[in-house]
Amino acid sequence: MSPLPRALPRSLAFLGWVLLILLPARAADAGPLATELLRPPFTASNILYVDTGGAFLESTSGAFRAAVFNPGKQQDRFYLAVLHVPSATLVWSGNRDAPTTSSGPVNLTSQGITVSKPDGTLLWSTPSQLRSPVVALRLQDSGNLQLLGAGNATLWQSFDTATDTLLPGQLLRAGAYLSAATSATDLAEGNYRLGVTAADLVLTWQASTYWRLSNDARSYKDRNAAVASVSVNASGLFAVAADGGLVFRVNIGAAAFPVLSLGYDGRLRITSYALVNSSASLGSDFVAPANDCDLPLQCPSLGLCSPAAGNSSTCTCPPLFAASVTTPGACTPGDGSALASPALCQSNNSTVSPSYLALKSQVAYFATKFDPPIKAGVNHNACRGLCSTSCGCLAYFYDNLSQSCYLIQDKQLGSLYFSSSASALGYIKTVPSANNATRNNPSSSSANRAIPIILPSIAAFLLLAVIICYLCWRRMSKNGKKKKGKSTGVKQVYMGRQKDTGSADDDEDDDNVVVPGMPTRFSYMEIAAMTANFGTKIGSGGFGSVYKGELPGVVEGLVAVKKLEAVGVQAKREFCTEITVIANIRHVNLVRLRGFCAEGSRRLLVYEYMNRGSLDRSLFGRTGPILEWGERMEVALGAARGLAYLHTGCDQKIVHCDVKPENILLADGGQVKIADFGLAKLMSPEQSALFTTMRGTRGYLAPEWLSNAAISDRADVYSFGMVLLELIHGRKNRGEQTNDNAAVAVAGAGAGSSVQSDWPSGWSSATATSSPSGASGSGDEYFPMVAMELHEQGRHLDLVDRRLEGRVDGAEAARAVRIALCCLHEDPAQRPSMAAVVRMLEGTVAPPEPRVEALGFLRLYGRGHAVPNTSLIAMAGTSGSAGTSSSMAGVAELTDTSQSVSAPR
Ligand SMILES: *[C@@H]1O[C@H](CO)[C@@H](O)[C@H](O)[C@H]1NC(C)=O
Ligand SMILES: *[C@@H]1O[C@H](CO)[C@@H](O)[C@H](O)[C@H]1NC(C)=O
Ligand SMILES: *[C@@H]1O[C@H](CO)[C@@H](O)[C@H](O)[C@H]1NC(C)=O
Ligand SMILES: *[C@@H]1O[C@H](CO)[C@@H](O)[C@H](O)[C@H]1NC(C)=O
Ligand SMILES: *[C@@H]1O[C@H](CO)[C@@H](O)[C@H](O)[C@H]1NC(C)=O
Ligand SMILES: *[C@@H]1O[C@H](CO)[C@@H](O)[C@H](O)[C@H]1NC(C)=O
Ligand SMILES: *[C@@H]1O[C@H](CO)[C@@H](O)[C@H](O)[C@H]1NC(C)=O
Ligand SMILES: *[C@@H]1O[C@H](CO)[C@@H](O)[C@H](O)[C@H]1NC(C)=O
Repeated sequence: MSPLPRALPRSLAFLGWVLLILLPARAADAGPLATELLRPPFTASNILYVDTGGAFLESTSGAFRAAVFNPGKQQDRFYLAVLHVPSATLVWSGNRDAPTTSSGPVNLTSQGITVSKPDGTLLWSTPSQLRSPVVALRLQDSGNLQLLGAGNATLWQSFDTATDTLLPGQLLRAGAYLSAATSATDLAEGNYRLGVTAADLVLTWQASTYWRLSNDARSYKDRNAAVASVSVNASGLFAVAADGGLVFRVNIGAAAFPVLSLGYDGRLRITSYALVNSSASLGSDFVAPANDCDLPLQCPSLGLCSPAAGNSSTCTCPPLFAASVTTPGACTPGDGSALASPALCQSNNSTVSPSYLALKSQVAYFATKFDPPIKAGVNHNACRGLCSTSCGCLAYFYDNLSQSCYLIQDKQLGSLYFSSSASALGYIKTVPSANNATRNNPSSSSANRAIPIILPSIAAFLLLAVIICYLCWRRMSKNGKKKKGKSTGVKQVYMGRQKDTGSADDDEDDDNVVVPGMPTRFSYMEIAAMTANFGTKIGSGGFGSVYKGELPGVVEGLVAVKKLEAVGVQAKREFCTEITVIANIRHVNLVRLRGFCAEGSRRLLVYEYMNRGSLDRSLFGRTGPILEWGERMEVALGAARGLAYLHTGCDQKIVHCDVKPENILLADGGQVKIADFGLAKLMSPEQSALFTTMRGTRGYLAPEWLSNAAISDRADVYSFGMVLLELIHGRKNRGEQTNDNAAVAVAGAGAGSSVQSDWPSGWSSATATSSPSGASGSGDEYFPMVAMELHEQGRHLDLVDRRLEGRVDGAEAARAVRIALCCLHEDPAQRPSMAAVVRMLEGTVAPPEPRVEALGFLRLYGRGHAVPNTSLIAMAGTSGSAGTSSSMAGVAELTDTSQSVSAPR
C-alpha cells in the first residue's frame, strides 16, 4: 500500500514535465496556419510556428502568407513579413530596422500589432492611435495585410507602408519612397531609394540621383502633369496625376502578376509571374538602370566602370590611382597620399591643407549627370575653395563650359564611368598619408613622365589617320564620278524630284560617302533598332517627327532621332557636308548632333536627348510645375548664348531662321539648348517657303521675311525677342484661344485687380471698357503691342505671368521687357546683335530705350493676327464707330492679307 501513494506524486510530476515539453509543440500543431482572418488576442513567434517556417496566416488563395521570417537562415534576424509563397519572396516587412529573435513574440491585440523581444522590449508596432479597436487581422489575396475594425473598416494596411516592393493594386504616392534593404539578409533601410516626385520617378543613392524614369528610353510621357502616384499592373508601370490621367507609363510584356522591387544592389526590377500563384518568374522585364555602369556603386569607391562583353562590366582604377592594398577592389591615390577623411579633417590638430588629384576628361560621376550643381556661374578656384573649406567634401567636379560646381560631400564616393559627353572634370581631395610623407612614388612619377611622350604621339597618329581618310575619300569620290556616267539614269529616279542636279557627283547608292569630320553614320536598320521601330514619338516639328531612342552599349546613350520629312530629297554628298558642319558646332547651349543616317531617300538625324522637352511644354503647359522667374531668365540667357555662338562663334555665320520655344530644349540641371540650327540650309527654296508659312512659326517671323528684304542674323534676334516676351508673359504672344485660356482670363478678371481690364489705349482698351466683366477678348490681345504700351507707362510688372504670383525681380522684369522690345525693332539694323543681347541679359550692359516709332508696325500685326472667333466678334462689334459688319470685314481682310504675304522672299 505504501509504495503506491509515494509513487503517485512522482509520476504526476513526470506527467506534468511531459506536458510542459509537449505543450508548445501542441500549440504549434493546434494553432495551424489560419486562413484570411485572425482575431485578437493572438501571439505568434517563429518558434511557435516552426513547422510552417514561421507562417501563421495565409491568404484565401494561398499565394501570400504572413510570417515571422528569417531571410538569412544563419542570422538570428526575424521579421514580421508578408511572403509571396510560390516564389518565396518577401514583399513587405514591419520591423525591418529592428529584427527580433526566433522566440520574439508578434502580438495581435485590439490596439494593433506589436513585435517585441522575448524579454518584452517593444521593437515595432502599428500606429498607436487607431481609429477604433481591432476586430481582426486580414491577409488579402493581393498580399495586403490589414487591421480591420468593426464593419470591416480598414484601420491600417501594409500597402500604405511599402518597404522595397510594390505589388499590383498598391499605390506609391508622391513624396513616398521605396527603400532597398541593406543586404539579402539584413532588411534594414539601405542607401538606395526609389522616390516619387511631382515630376518623375527617381532612383537615388545617398540622396544623389542616378536614374530618372523620364530619362529612360523605355518610358513614355503622356502629358506634363504633376505625378500623384505610381503603380504596377498587368499592362505595366504607371505614373498618374491626381485626376487619374496618365503622366508616364512603361509597357511590360503581358503578365498577370508583375512585382516591382528595389534590390539591395540598387537595381529597380519588375519581375513578372504568369499568375499570382505561379512560382517561376517570366523574367525581369524591366531593370533600371539598364547599364551596370549607371549604378552608383557598381565598382567599389572610385573604381572606374567600363561596359564589357554581354551585360557585364569591369572595374579598373582611373589614371593616377592604384588598387588599394588594404581594401580589395577600392582605389587609392597612386602618389602615396590618402583620400581625405572628414573625421581627420574635423580633428583639431589637422592643419594639413588638402591637395587634389585630377581625373582625366571623360571620367564621369553619376551625380553630376542628374543633380543640379551646388553652385553655377563660379570659376574653378571658387569651386575648389568651396571643397577645401568643407571638411565633409571628398571631391568636386567642375564644368568649365557651364561654370558649374558639384561637391561630393558628407557621403561615400561612388564609382566612376566613362562618358564621351561629360564636360565636368573631377578632382579628388587627398591629404598626405600619415606614414608615407615621401611623395616620390616611382609609379606615379613614371606615369607623369609618360604623358609628355604619349600625347604628341597620339596627336601625330590622329593627324596621319585624318590625312589617310581624306586621301581615301578623294580617291573614292573620283571613282564614284567615273562610275556615275553609266548608271545615272536609274539613280536619278529616286534621287531627287525637284533638286537641280547641277553638281553631278550625287552618288546616291554609294553609302560610302565620307566627308572628313563627319559624325557617326548609322544604317536605317540600326536607327530602327535604337528607337524600337520608332515606337516612342516625342515630338514633331517643322522638319518631321522626333523619336526617342537609345544607342546600344553606350553609357548616357539616350538620343532623340529626327526623321527629316521636308528634306528627303537632297543629294547625299551635300547632305553629308552640311551635317558635318552642324556636327562640328559644339556649344553648351546648342544641341549636339551625335550621328545621322542617309540611306536612299531617308534622312535621319540623331541628337542628344533633352529630358524635359521643349520650352513650349514647360512654359505654356497648363499642368505641371510652372517655370519660375529665375529659371525663365536662365532659359533666355542660355538660348541667347547659343544663338550668339551661331552668329559669331563659328567659322561660318549660321542664321537659325526658326527660333521659337519649340526649338529651345531643356534638360535637368538647368540645361538649355537650341535645336534645329543649320537645318534651314538643308532645304530647297520651295521647301523653305513651305516651312516659313507653317502654322506656329509665323508668330516669330521678322517683318523682313514678309518683304523681299535680305535675311540676316537679325531675323533671329527678332524671333528671340518674341520668345523673350513669351517667357515673361508665360503665354503665346498671339492669342491662341483655348478654353483653358479663356478660363484663366475670366478668373483673372474676376479677381478685381485684373491686368487686362486696365490694359491701355487703342482697340484693346475699347474692348475692355465696353465689357466691364473683362472676360471677352482678353486672350486676343497681341501681347507685343501691349508690352510696348505698358512699357511706355513703366508698368513692367503688369506684363509678367500672373501664375508667378509676384515671385519676380522687378528690375529684371523691366530689363527683360526693354531687351525684348529692342529685339523687335522693325528695321533689322536697329536691333541689337545676339552678343549684345547676351550682355544685356547678363546685366553687364544696360539695354537701350526701345524706339516706339520702330515698333508701330506691331499694331498692324496685332490686328492681322487676331482670330475671328466669338470673342472677337463681340470686340469688333464694340470697337469702332463703324458698323459691326464693316469692322468685321476689316478684321477678316487683314487676317487674309497677313497670311498671303507671309511667304518669305
Ligand atoms: C504577447 O503575448 C504574450 C502571450 O499572450 C504575453 O505573454 C506577452 O506579454 C505579450 N507581449 C507583449 C509585449 O504584449
Ligand atoms: C468582413 O469580411 C469577411 C471576410 O472577408 C466577411 O466574411 C464578412 O462578411 C465581412 N463583414 C462585413 C460586415 O462586411
Ligand atoms: C493599369 O493601370 C493603368 C493606369 O491606372 C490603366 O490605365 C490600365 O488600364 C491598367 N491596366 C490593367 C490591365 O488593369
Ligand atoms: C492558381 O490559381 C488558379 C486560380 O486562381 C487555380 O485555378 C490554380 O489551380 C492555382 N494553381 C496552383 C498551383 O495553386
Ligand atoms: C543581357 O540581358 C538580356 C536582358 O536583360 C538577356 O536577355 C541576355 O541574355 C543577357 N546577356 C548576357 C550575356 O548575360
Ligand atoms: C577640439 O577642441 C575643442 C575645444 O577646443 C574640443 O571641445 C573638441 O572636443 C576638440 N575636438 C577634437 C576632435 O579633438
Ligand atoms: C593631435 O595631436 C596630438 C599631439 O600632437 C596627437 O597625439 C593626436 O594623435 C593628434 N590627433 C589627430 C587626430 O591627429
Ligand atoms: C608607404 O609607402 C611604401 C612604399 O612607398 C609602402 O610599401 C608602404 O606600405 C606605405 N605605407 C602605408 C602605411 O601606406
